[in-house]
Amino acid sequence: MTFSGSVTIKGKKVGRPSERITLHQKGLKVISATITRHDKKGNQTFEVERINLQKSYDEVRLHAKEKLFPGAYTLTLEFEGAIHEVMHGIYPCNYIVDGVKKKLIATQFESHHAREAFPCIDEPEAKATFDLTLISPEGEYALSNMPAKKQTTKNNKQITVFETTPKMSTYLLAFVYGELHFKAGKTKDGVTVRTWATKNHPIESLDFALDVGVRAIEFFNDYYGVPYPLTKADHVALPDFSSGAMENWGLITYRESCLIVDPATTSQSMKERVATVVTHELSHQWFGNLVTMQWWDDLWLNESFANVMEYVATDALFPDWQIWNSFVGQEGLSSQRRDSLPGVQSVRTVVNHPDEIGSLFDPSIVYAKGGRLLNMLMNYLGTDAFRKGLKIYFDKHAYGNTTGDDLWEALSTASGKDVASFMTPWLTRSGFPLVTVDQAGPQLSISQQHFLVDPVQADDRIWPVPLLSDDAQVPQLLETGELSTALENPAYIRINHDAVGHYIVRYAEPAHADAIAQLAESKTLTPSERLMLLSDSSLVARAGIASFGETLALLKHYAQEDTESGWDIIALSIADARRFIDLDESMEDDIKAFIRQFIQIQFERLGFVPKEDESAEDGKLRATIISLGVYSEHPEIKQWALDSFEAYKKDDTSVVSELRSIVFGAAVRNDVAGAFDYLLKLEESTSNPDLKSELLGALTLSKLPERATELLGRIKDSSKVRQHDVDAWIVYLLRNRYVRDLAWDWLRDNWEWIEKTFEGDKGYDSFPRYAASTFNTRQLADEYEAFFEPKLKDVALTRNITLGIEELAARVVWLERDLAPVQDFFKQ
Ligand code: BES
Ligand code: ZN
Repeated sequence: MTFSGSVTIKGKKVGRPSERITLHQKGLKVISATITRHDKKGNQTFEVERINLQKSYDEVRLHAKEKLFPGAYTLTLEFEGAIHEVMHGIYPCNYIVDGVKKKLIATQFESHHAREAFPCIDEPEAKATFDLTLISPEGEYALSNMPAKKQTTKNNKQITVFETTPKMSTYLLAFVYGELHFKAGKTKDGVTVRTWATKNHPIESLDFALDVGVRAIEFFNDYYGVPYPLTKADHVALPDFSSGAMENWGLITYRESCLIVDPATTSQSMKERVATVVTHELSHQWFGNLVTMQWWDDLWLNESFANVMEYVATDALFPDWQIWNSFVGQEGLSSQRRDSLPGVQSVRTVVNHPDEIGSLFDPSIVYAKGGRLLNMLMNYLGTDAFRKGLKIYFDKHAYGNTTGDDLWEALSTASGKDVASFMTPWLTRSGFPLVTVDQAGPQLSISQQHFLVDPVQADDRIWPVPLLSDDAQVPQLLETGELSTALENPAYIRINHDAVGHYIVRYAEPAHADAIAQLAESKTLTPSERLMLLSDSSLVARAGIASFGETLALLKHYAQEDTESGWDIIALSIADARRFIDLDESMEDDIKAFIRQFIQIQFERLGFVPKEDESAEDGKLRATIISLGVYSEHPEIKQWALDSFEAYKKDDTSVVSELRSIVFGAAVRNDVAGAFDYLLKLEESTSNPDLKSELLGALTLSKLPERATELLGRIKDSSKVRQHDVDAWIVYLLRNRYVRDLAWDWLRDNWEWIEKTFEGDKGYDSFPRYAASTFNTRQLADEYEAFFEPKLKDVALTRNITLGIEELAARVVWLERDLAPVQDFFKQ
């Protein structure tokens, strides 16, 4: 578990003459270093007097005996390092195949972990070509960004020399070696695509991702108008992986659940996940790899863009999935809920310290909100101008670095619109507007206000709001705080067509709001509009502008809703309502009775058995309905779930994949004899990533404290719970109100272990984030603050703790304020 290497770096020294040359390194031992200068007269070697490791700066400083003048230099350093059980730098993945322990070695260099592997400059702007030679065990596959150009063996070692990479940022370099197997394909243009996994996964489980991998490259070739720049694209599923996937150029790495699709058992939702992750990472091969942000403050150029491209590409590859409905339901809702907290970051954010980079990757902001904003822009410019602009951007900046302004400039050239002044406020201001439409006959006034769940903290910031009205009399943009106009046609207007704009709408006049609700009921509104209408109402309630009782009343107009995305928000509203149970347990029965009745129409339509020609959406909707049925103890559904569990034990193909997790959950929740132990054993023995995560979801639903204690007791045992699953086990238990206290105690008691294990990991800041998302009472809010406030100094956690405190404060006030109307609603 050690490594050694040598690195030769060629480059130019610029700036003032000095005795010192500095590189990044972290945790390495630098054994020797040489400095050579090249000029017209030849080479001159300088004696290195001192190699100074600056721990607190992650640097190695080479001090020469004399001054080094600007010019061309070559540095050579020999170094050694240790391989740790963390999921960054050079790291091991441990797994067992047929009872035999195995290990493969992988790398994760984004954001600034290349310095843990070799002395280098690993800031995005420092682009270079890389020539990698890897010495690894004989008989294993050795992969890197580029194809191997030469492979030899010597003393049981395999020496692989890889082709030179294109000019690229250091964080994109990668290698993997170990016992793997693969499936291969080719794009129309001859790019070799391979999908890889350990032999724990049947070879067919690599087919789906391979198909997406091939077709997505073909799609992006066409969409971006620039051919995929390498000759191969490998996709590797790794047993240990901190995030979801990583876009290393030509060697994309994944968490197993994000690449592997078992044709027999993987559900539609998981296939969608795999398709969007693969397209996300492939989009980065252009946006991010070919053209890279200059510095991490423009991380959105990478991630927001890849986020929206997940949908553009997946929709092109699988048109009948209706994936854009999930865009609004997932990215739209997640971004608005986060973006309405006081203290939230803007999409474009200043970064000072490298340790802050981790918390920059806020999925709700840099991914979801940024993706929403780019989609809003795409809509504003039109797809043709947008794509034309991208082509200009790639042609001008390929192999270079950019800021947002470079993208705006290209898009402005293509569209003739002033893109920077439209987008800058959206990107640099946190939050979004509440747009109030006040219409009395022909008299119309539209105004915008900064929306926060704690309105006291809102200020007078405004945005250029695309009003997206179907009515030609309404201006395109609201650029001021308020506009008033007299309409020719006094019919009630609608804005935010198809919920494309990142804002929420309130129709102030009750008759107007009612008319819109009727349009939702008659499905005149599009699925995305129906979804957003309900979501807007629940956000407005959180801020105290209306009551959550009104949201529930609005819900009644959705009895005929038949889309999966519509039911996602219905289920979310019900989940919001269930938060009130923590304040008044007696409400639970009434809520369940409401749900049983509310799901009936869709339950009758869909039943338990998939129809042969049903849409992918209906398959997913069935799961939502059955899951609500199980929760609400709908007698027929509950009985079906318990019977299905018994059937599953005899024949594990008897339950359709989309419903499997619900069946497991029902058995655990209802404490069916032997179910918990049976499922826990299955969890320990299976290597199927989907099944594993479904089992995690089910086991953590137990109402019994002794079960929760058993699960918590496994968390620190790495042979039972992989490091990358620790946060999921904890948050699922925190969500379960029957055992929440136990999980919260565990989190506090084991914080030192969490800190030690996850410090420096991208997922470290998810602990305060998840905890805040699950609490509903003043007491837990106080305990949260008491526990986390002293940890605010940790820059990796500061942001999520600050937001967690705000989120809880607002939620407690909201739940206390709206308890009475919600009680009234469910009593009726
Ligand atoms: N570049 C990121 C992964 C990453 C970010 C690694 C920061 C290390 C530090 C990658 O492209 C990504 O966005 N992955 C997502 C999955 C995606 C499909 C939403 C992730 O890992 O969550
Ligand atoms: Zn990404």
